Formats: sequence, C-alpha cells, structure tokens
Amino acid sequence: MSQKGYILGVFLLGPFSLSVILKFSKKQIGIQWEELLDASPMLSNGLEPEASDARNMICETKKKRDGIWTVWSSGQLGNQLGQYAALYALAKLNDHEAYIEQGTHNWLAPIFKISLPVLHRDTAGKIPWRNFRIHDWMSEEYYHIDEKYLRLTGYPSSWTFYHHIREEIIWEITFHDFIKAETNKHLELIKGTRKNVTFIGVHVHRGDYVQIMPKVWKGVLGDKTYLEKAMDYFRTKYQEPVFVVASNGMAWCMESINASTGDIYFSGDEVESSPWKDFALLAHSDHSIMTIGTFGLWANYLVGWETIYFTNFTLPDSNF
Ligand SMILES: *[C@@H]1O[C@H](CO)[C@@H](O)[C@H](O)[C@H]1NC(C)=O
Ligand SMILES: *[C@@H]1O[C@H](CO)[C@@H](O)[C@H](O)[C@H]1NC(C)=O
Ligand SMILES: *[C@@H]1O[C@H](CO)[C@@H](O)[C@H](O)[C@H]1NC(C)=O
Repeated sequence: MSQKGYILGVFLLGPFSLSVILKFSKKQIGIQWEELLDASPMLSNGLEPEASDARNMICETKKKRDGIWTVWSSGQLGNQLGQYAALYALAKLNDHEAYIEQGTHNWLAPIFKISLPVLHRDTAGKIPWRNFRIHDWMSEEYYHIDEKYLRLTGYPSSWTFYHHIREEIIWEITFHDFIKAETNKHLELIKGTRKNVTFIGVHVHRGDYVQIMPKVWKGVLGDKTYLEKAMDYFRTKYQEPVFVVASNGMAWCMESINASTGDIYFSGDEVESSPWKDFALLAHSDHSIMTIGTFGLWANYLVGWETIYFTNFTLPDSNF
C-alpha cells in the first residue's frame, strides 16, 4: 500500500537519528553559491578565457541520453519533495533529462524556486512511460536503470537517494523571496523584545498517525516526555531559546506542552492543505526537534544545525 513508502522514508532517518544530527549551515551553502555566481562574470571578462571556452565545450559535449524521466506525483508536501529530490538525483546519476508532472509543479513551484521543467499534460499522455516502482532507499541497481521513458512511482523520501548532492537539492528547494521575507518578519514578531534568541522548530505529527502509527506501521509517535526532554536539552544549551511548534494536532500540543515557561510559540491553524507557512517557519529555525513524518523530515533537512530525534522509533514487532 502506498503509505508504506511514506513511512519507510521516515524510518530511514534511523542511521542519523540516535540523538543529534549535525548539518551544514544553509547560510554557508548560500555563500558558496553566491561566490560561484560572483566568479562567473570574471571568467567571461577575459581573466580566464580558457576556462570560459572549456565551460562552453562541456555544455556541448554533456548532452543527455535520449528519453525523458519523470516521477508520479502523489501525497502532500513532504512526499512531493521526496519525489522531486529522488527524481532529480536518479536522473542525474543515469544521465537522463528529468521533467516533473503538473501535480508536482503545483505543489512545489508556489513555494520553492525549483528548476526542473514541467511536462505539458498532452505530452505526458503521449509518452510510452514505463512505471518503475522504487523502494524507499538507494540500491545498487538504481545506478544503472536502462529505460528511456521512465516514471518513478512510490514514495521515495530517503536521504540515501540524494544526500551525495545535498547542496544541489537544497539549492533546488530554496524558498521564494517573498516567503523568506514573510517568514523572517514572522520570526521577528515571535522574537519580540528578546535580545539573543535561538529558534528551535518543533514538528509534532499527529492526525491519522495517532491511530495508524502504532496499530499498522508499528511506529512510535513522539510523546510528551520526549518533547519535554528535547526542549530541556536546548534550554540548557542556549540563553534564550524559543520553540516554534507546528503540528496537525495543535489541541494535543497545547494540552501536552507546558507553555508556562514562556518560551513556546504555537504556530498554525492545522490547515494541512496550505502548509507552507508552518513549513517555512520550521525550516528557518536554527535547530529542530522532530517527530515522525516526511513533512518534519524535509523541514529538518533544510534547517541549519542540530536536529533531535528519539531512539526506539519503532515498536519491537515492526517490519521496519
Ligand atoms: C547569546 O547566547 C549564546 C548562547 O545561546 C551565548 O553563547 C552568547 O554569548 C550570547 N550572546 C550575548 C551577546 O549575550
Ligand atoms: C509547568 O511548568 C512550570 C514551571 O515552568 C511548573 O511550575 C508547572 O508545575 C508545570 N505544569 C505542569 C502541568 O506540569
Ligand atoms: C531501546 O530499546 C532497547 C531494546 O528494547 C532497550 O534496550 C533500550 O533501553 C531502549 N532505549 C531507550 C532510550 O528507551
């Protein structure tokens, strides 16, 4: 069933996840790209003419193989991001051109400056696709897929597909400027009169997971004790932490998280169909605490520094 992959993506965080994940700073990556962009006019200004010629030659000889690859668009934001990133990475590895479906574009393009071209629906309908169901982790065989018109299906989300090109993936899922501006404004408001704030994004996945997770997938939801413990970790580490809590079960969060400490901000209106505000807030935080699910996974993948996850995220009788 389709949700299986969705869950697998989450559990693949396992190798990372025992307690703390250190990550590249998004800001650092941004600077590297700016430096690259700054450098290129110098090349074409004649300082390094050979380099410029060489670059043109590379463009000519680096022609892709025939055919088109795409990915089946399904699920919500977290899954869409996983599909996009897996397509991007696998097509690149196999030297094929990647196009996205209209559905993928509709989810991602309003939020991110994605670059893969969109297939027109009429065209998409005429291409003799071969559906190719991928399981949710990278395998040796995916380095050599011999298909001209391939459509990936499934719910890939695992970092194992794309972590080797992390900077490119993060570049692909850069927020639009107006979202950055709005989010920074929002964070300023949350900051209030505090002087030395450290923002911690907290994603609490509830909703249908409350039933499905323990009963069907034998996974564990982050509970109250876990969240308190994770927040206390940051409270001892930073002078003025502020926890920005996003959830599709805000009532539970408000009941379960002790906000008398004055450092908790509950965000969002639980409208899952337009989740970009919550997603952007989480992704613009300095550090993060996550529970289960691809939404939190992706927000965390974009966050600068530390991510907290819990041990024993499956029940003993889980298949995962
Ligand atoms: C701000 O807080 C951090 C820890 O959260 C601390 O290392 C730093 O010295 C503080 N800066 C100032 C100006 O108080
Ligand atoms: C919430 O935290 C405060 C301390 O910040 C504590 O005094 C209070 O007992 C806590 N409330 C609950 C319900 O745990
Ligand atoms: C995780 O599960 C293992 C095996 O059941 C157990 O030995 C260990 O104490 C658990 N760790 C935590 C932090 O609960």
